[in-house]
Amino acid sequence: MTEIIIHKKSEELARAGAGMILTWAKEAVAEKGFFLSAISGGSTPRPLHRLFKEEPYLSEMPWSAFHLFWVDERCVRAEDPDSNYGTAKKDFLDRIPIPKHQIHPMRGDVRPDKGTEQYQKELETFFHSRGKIDPVFDLILLGIGTDGHTASLFPGHGALNNTKKWVVAVKGGRPNVFRITLTLPILNAAQHVIILASGKEKAQIVEKIFHDKGAILPAQRIQPVHGDLIWLMDEEAASALMNDTPLQIDE
Ligand code: 6PG
Repeated sequence: MTEIIIHKKSEELARAGAGMILTWAKEAVAEKGFFLSAISGGSTPRPLHRLFKEEPYLSEMPWSAFHLFWVDERCVRAEDPDSNYGTAKKDFLDRIPIPKHQIHPMRGDVRPDKGTEQYQKELETFFHSRGKIDPVFDLILLGIGTDGHTASLFPGHGALNNTKKWVVAVKGGRPNVFRITLTLPILNAAQHVIILASGKEKAQIVEKIFHDKGAILPAQRIQPVHGDLIWLMDEEAASALMNDTPLQIDE
């Protein structure tokens, strides 16, 4: 099931996303004792990430049963301002009571092929020890680039058709560096996928994603097999859509 939710302002977007994650985390922990999430980098999710160190999320999120993985990582050291893990540490990780062993960063400080190998092994160990053959996350949090990429899956890249590997190395994006990324089968196996889009610079690509089915953009390939997909946008990002697609707009 795909849902489009639009909020007037980007701050409301962050709060709506954090609220959904809190609800799903509580449900998952009540049902199976843990919550498995994977987050993206970039600027869009940062306001949402920062909320995690504020109330009510700081006290109410079941951090002791919360496992945090990454959707993708730039192949740079954690201290580098382009590091998704390093940015998350600054934004919230160092300020929430999540057990350190439940934080699973991708290794950006080793060769890309080594980094993908390491993360594939980390995922195998984690999920196989929980009786799962393939990784199934409760939540995948994605953004989109103005070229329609998501995670570090860029238009026309072979990684988009890699159904064998859970993690691959690519080069591209802004910054144009080597990256490690989860592949589509893992993203589409998740229970809940949120794609965040904010700001007028995303309006054109959002409109293309929804109206140009021939474009075959990576973000269009996010189609959860069993889970749900929520497009969480502000009005600026959805502005080109608003005039003709029946949308649910949360005031
Ligand atoms: C990354 C992200 C990437 C991001 C988009 C949007 O590591 O770069 O995972 O996929 O979500 O590039 O980036 P902005 O949110 O900064 O627009």
